[in-house]
Amino acid sequence: REGALWGARFSTGPSPELEALSRSTHFDWRLAAYDIAGSRAHARALAAAGYLTTDELSAMLDALDRLDADVASGAFVAASSDEDVHGALERGLIERAGPEIGGKLRAGRSRNDQIATLIRMLLRDHAGIIRGQLVDLIDAIAAQADRHFDAILPGRTHLQSAQPVLLAHHLLAHAWPLVRDLDRLADWAKRADASPYGSGALAGSTLGLDAAAVAAELGFSAVTPNSIDGTSSRDVVAEFAYVAAQIGIDLSRFAEDIILWNTREFGFLTLSDGYSTGSSIMPQKKNPDIAELARGKSGRLLGNLTGLLTTLKGLPLAYNRDLQEDKEPVFDSIETLEVLLPAFAGMVATAQFHVERMAEQAPVGFSLATDVADWLVRQGVPFRDAHEITGALVRAAEEADTDLGGLTDSQLAGVSARLTPEVRSVLTIEGSVASRDNIGGTAPVRVREQLGLLTAKVREI
Ligand code: ARG
Repeated sequence: REGALWGARFSTGPSPELEALSRSTHFDWRLAAYDIAGSRAHARALAAAGYLTTDELSAMLDALDRLDADVASGAFVAASSDEDVHGALERGLIERAGPEIGGKLRAGRSRNDQIATLIRMLLRDHAGIIRGQLVDLIDAIAAQADRHFDAILPGRTHLQSAQPVLLAHHLLAHAWPLVRDLDRLADWAKRADASPYGSGALAGSTLGLDAAAVAAELGFSAVTPNSIDGTSSRDVVAEFAYVAAQIGIDLSRFAEDIILWNTREFGFLTLSDGYSTGSSIMPQKKNPDIAELARGKSGRLLGNLTGLLTTLKGLPLAYNRDLQEDKEPVFDSIETLEVLLPAFAGMVATAQFHVERMAEQAPVGFSLATDVADWLVRQGVPFRDAHEITGALVRAAEEADTDLGGLTDSQLAGVSARLTPEVRSVLTIEGSVASRDNIGGTAPVRVREQLGLLTAKVREI
């Protein structure tokens, strides 16, 4: 069959149904440039081992360059008879270099070792893009934290009023998981840094080709030590999909805060018009769609990971065609993140915080109760008793329909003799925040330190 990679042992060509099922060019075409880079390195290895003359090598490299340019310009595209990108590009090479020379390139390699190498190259490049986008988002969060350094936010647990915190502290709590995602990408890159090229179909190659030279040309610092593992494992792909899913989940948690804060009831922030959407029927609406899409797309990213792991589960060694199913999910995860991260960063960078509204809400819900209990401990009261006394104080304030600072001296004394008027010294939100000055605490001095640490960490990963 013209342009096919196999066929001689078959009495008929493939059925149209098989062709339709088997074809992968509509999604693996994005590996074309990597495939050609692999072919250049492989051609040099063939020449070094004596299978191509110097003239044949330069004719081959010249044809590969022309093919590369034609792929880039769209002059060369997949035909409906091409099974996959590898077959299509061999057809393109033979069209340009002739069957004598073009037909020599396939010696000593298989689509199995090719694809396992090319996917790593593609993921490596996108890890770099996603890394840069994550850094932009972290920078946007850090800039907002810095800009509103004095703002105080009602901190919550169980979504109920808990203790006041710095807005900056809360914002940075969304940045740290993203810093760890950067770290995860860097760590992933170490495991992805081995080339399976030269593993052949599964068992290796008889031709004595220099796989280390191929690896180095393709930007890998090592060759995979086991040809079966090199061609048939996809944990490197699954791990990438995991990091993508984790990023999605980290974004979705931040998104949920933004969605809540953006409601009239919270009123903590307004999203800028360029990063908000309207309604087709309700003219007054301004919706936080970027945050909602982040929350929604995290499900899709998780689905891609789950689907991929399910494909791998129980697969026998070595290569099986099931492995072709690794690409669409991870490509989708890449596309999803690369369109989501810049939108999310823009939304964060341009959001307008309502710091007076936050400050006003910060003491609501008796959020300074722990400060009273801690004050009692400093007066020598055992914490168990301090907790009881403060609980009774909250009840008294609730009954008097006031907050903790609103009780009179005699009302305080009525709750407990230990509650002298001096307790009022801890009943300010600024005092409460400033007093939590342990490492990692919300005191401004610590948060300032934390911001420096975060910025330094991002630069070093
Ligand atoms: N297109 C396949 C993949 O993506 C590679 C081809 C391997 N095919 C084969 N019959 N061994 O995994």
